[in-house]
Amino acid sequence: MNILLLGSGGREDALAWRLAQSPSCARLIAAPGNPGILRWAECVAVDPCDPAAVVDLAKAEAIDLVVVGPEAPLVAGVGDALRAAGIAVFGPNADAARLEGSKGFTKDLCAANDIPTAAYVRVDTVGDALAALDRFAIPVVIKADGLAAGKGVTVALTRAEAVDAITRASDGPMVIEEFLEGEEASLFALVDGARTIAFASAQDHKRVGEGDTGPNTGGMGAYSPAPVLTPELEAQAMREIVEPTARAMAEAGTPFCGVLFAGLMLTRDGPSLIEYNVRFGDPECEAIMPRVDGDFAALLHSVATGRLGEVPPKLSDETTMTVVVAAKGYPATPAAGGTIGGLDHAEALVGVTVFQAGTKLSDGALVASGGRVLAVTAKGRSLGEARTRAYAAVDAIDFADGFHRRDIGWRELERIS
Ligand code: AMP
Ligand code: GLY
Repeated sequence: MNILLLGSGGREDALAWRLAQSPSCARLIAAPGNPGILRWAECVAVDPCDPAAVVDLAKAEAIDLVVVGPEAPLVAGVGDALRAAGIAVFGPNADAARLEGSKGFTKDLCAANDIPTAAYVRVDTVGDALAALDRFAIPVVIKADGLAAGKGVTVALTRAEAVDAITRASDGPMVIEEFLEGEEASLFALVDGARTIAFASAQDHKRVGEGDTGPNTGGMGAYSPAPVLTPELEAQAMREIVEPTARAMAEAGTPFCGVLFAGLMLTRDGPSLIEYNVRFGDPECEAIMPRVDGDFAALLHSVATGRLGEVPPKLSDETTMTVVVAAKGYPATPAAGGTIGGLDHAEALVGVTVFQAGTKLSDGALVASGGRVLAVTAKGRSLGEARTRAYAAVDAIDFADGFHRRDIGWRELERIS
């Protein structure tokens, strides 16, 4: 197959790395890609959010499968345009991408289908939001409706904080919801419309600081699998959350195709849906890809062509850990341009792969060009071994303008120690 991968982050570097190793991948093109992806693919400067440009590229290169990394192209209708042109695409159409693109849409879908999620109200103005606040206990959660790159959510620990978050927001759709207590885990399910299959679990670390403190980020590290999501809880989440969602979307004439990423809160009453994403997580994807055995490109093609089950997913029993190295100042204003060295030393270590997220080449040197810069990944027979290897690799990297969390995996490491 000729495969086109859309996106330019660490998630896409991990996807490209795994796709390029797949027996059924003949040629891999990335748009726009990054210097890491350039190791495994040809990179072309096409805007992944421009449906017509993506279709033109796919036709010109005789592409058999398009794999969409981030959510923005999906919400922009790139999936629709490719399907209309008869090109297989791993990723949903825009109306199914609303599962990520609109929190209110997903909450209403849960309510209509008895899918466990936090109690909520949808409001459209600051005034209505303030009025609705009285119906909730504290803590309370306030969410902007649309895509906000992880920055649209406030978990308010006091009423004053909630009022402040609402008054700082402008009028527009918002969701106010009940605070759920428990541990979070991510479940990745492959969905081809009617059929669903659990693919992998992971746990992310969203806060910038050690001990899960400070502002939310896109994710500072992850490990896979997440043993806290036991086989029983995973089966329950598939049965009560993912399967009814896929069914409801198909019945509404807006079937979902691709990977459905369920952000779960494991509450005392069982798994509850925090949010959906309509693509792989970043950095969860970097942690999952080294565990994938078999022909990953063929697996994604089977999902894209409605043949889920014909290529069974295969994951190794090994554990992986990804430590994100970010540019100082992230998530507010990351420092750009810091030079990065030592990647060859890091990657020479057993079980280690360094995926590139926000990098660019400047006069032949690799420099930082984004908030999250590297996703340093290691696998091991245990989480402890993966951790030792991942941090040895981080320590071999020379990036003075960077920082990372030293405690990735702490919840699980505490449990097993
Ligand atoms: P989201 O963008 O919806 O995933 O929210 C970002 C983060 O906010 C989640 O990963 C949770 O840590 C937290 N969060 C969101 N909704 C809730 C909730 N209802 N109860 C507790 N924490 C939440
Ligand atoms: N790491 C969380 C996300 O990709 O949304």
